[in-house]
Amino acid sequence: MKRVIFIFVSMFFLFSLSSQAAIYKGQKMFVKECVSCHSGGQGFIAKKTIREWKKLMDKKGKPLAELHLENKEAKDSWEYFEGNNYEKKSKHLQQFLVEYAKDSGNVPACN
Ligand code: HEC
Repeated sequence: MKRVIFIFVSMFFLFSLSSQAAIYKGQKMFVKECVSCHSGGQGFIAKKTIREWKKLMDKKGKPLAELHLENKEAKDSWEYFEGNNYEKKSKHLQQFLVEYAKDSGNVPACN
């Protein structure tokens, strides 16, 4: 019985570690690719709800990419949104955005 509990606890621990890692990766992406135009960082993220972010990041982030590709003011981001890297890593970005959405209940750490 003890062993079962041990396995269960370790699995839970590993799971939360890996989702922490994905959020961290997403945060790095956000800082690198988004903050130059959307300053305010996590305040910007907290303007949208979990649902709204998920919708924007649907289909590997296509709606978000299109929104920028249609807007001339966002020209400097086109290269990034058209690149393979964006689609490939959009999942991490989504996880990060959802983590700090308005209704996520998470207060961002000041760093
Ligand atoms: C080169 C500048 C630029 C970069 C880089 C950029 N954006 Fe934008 N973004 C814009 C512009 C311009 C708009 C349209 C005007 C607006 O709503 O502010 C916009 C709009 C948005 C919107 C819709 C705003 C709303 O209120 O509905 C979201 C969400 C968004 N961007 C998220 C991101 C994310 C996430 C990234 C990084 C992956 C990113 N942007 C990178 C310029 C940029």
